[in-house]
Amino acid sequence: MDDTGPNSFQMMHQTSTYMLQCYTTLLHATTHGDDYHRPGKPSHLSEEFTADCHSVISMMVRAFLNPVPTTWDVANYCHDLAQIGTSLGRKGKKEAKLWKRYPWVDSCIRSISSARTVVDCYGRIMTWILPDILPVRMQEMLYNATVDINNDLAGGPDVKNPGCSWRLDPSLFTRTSDNDPIGVLNFSPAWFMNGWEGKHEGLATSPFLRSPRGRQWVQGVSEVGMLLSGVLRIMHPDQYRMMYETQKAIATDSRFEASISNWPFIFNATTIVANRRCRLHRDTRGSMQLFDLLVSVGRYQNAPFFLHPAGLQIPNSPGTIVAFSGKAFPHGVAKANGSRVCHAFYMRQSLQIFTKVRPSEWMKQEVYRQWVGPVQSDRLRDMHTNPFELL
Ligand SMILES: [Fe+2]
Repeated sequence: MDDTGPNSFQMMHQTSTYMLQCYTTLLHATTHGDDYHRPGKPSHLSEEFTADCHSVISMMVRAFLNPVPTTWDVANYCHDLAQIGTSLGRKGKKEAKLWKRYPWVDSCIRSISSARTVVDCYGRIMTWILPDILPVRMQEMLYNATVDINNDLAGGPDVKNPGCSWRLDPSLFTRTSDNDPIGVLNFSPAWFMNGWEGKHEGLATSPFLRSPRGRQWVQGVSEVGMLLSGVLRIMHPDQYRMMYETQKAIATDSRFEASISNWPFIFNATTIVANRRCRLHRDTRGSMQLFDLLVSVGRYQNAPFFLHPAGLQIPNSPGTIVAFSGKAFPHGVAKANGSRVCHAFYMRQSLQIFTKVRPSEWMKQEVYRQWVGPVQSDRLRDMHTNPFELL
């Protein structure tokens, strides 16, 4: 890919590098009481986009510096979870015992409506909560792009899918107006077709992305893709490194060179969910150490998001981004009081295993230790990693 000149994937990578530079510079200035001098921007970024980046980065600094602590080790939680299985299924008593052993947050903090992170006892960041962070114009891009592909979405209140997963259960969909987008669509520039996990011949570009509407969708949200990729790079530089290396490895296969070159996301897959509430569940094909990104947009005010153990609630107004491991932590969304579209961005673990790229570690606060002031630094532990050296 590097020899073919600038493309969407490369511009995404340049943008994320710039956003990480801005983040570390602002983190340093904020915690040392210095003036903030913005690093020079890449030439392909507009002034408008750059301003959006800075408002996003400013909130991420606040979230990082305002962690909600837990008293337990998330690796132990994941170990105990593996003993009972990640599927919620009918094992209510076992889940209840697990959640009791690992209370999510201080019992005083059940609802979080400001920019926060949630960390375990070793400073591993388990969740980023960023209310209303996505700039309005980008919310509009995402929402309108979904309206334009409404006919490509599957499911809805009138579509019976006997035997299908709960994700297409008609009773979960609600339309408040005939113009609302409704349904679900999953797609990727290169992933394994169902039943073909890990097999070279099972890798495929989703049919939607090969269609004119798919290409139009990608173009319509390319700025959002670059911004969200930068957000992920700040949230978890090692996950970004892993996803970057995985997609570059897949792009060496000529079947996927074009689809990945034109893909403006570090995430390898997207699920669009329009006007459907979401039962409490886990997503079993991800990885415990990785963040999935959930982005909500639309014409509504509130659609409470629940994250377990212990029932953490987030108001989840339009523009809210929540990052967490959908495999480790049960999550669900209540009905919105209007038209809501959720975009989930993620990468399945099977791709990383297939490409033999080094897996990602947990994200730890200490990754940013060298940029924080002495007061905050005392709260962080052994710091060995430089996020700029991960690539
Ligand atoms: Fe999920």
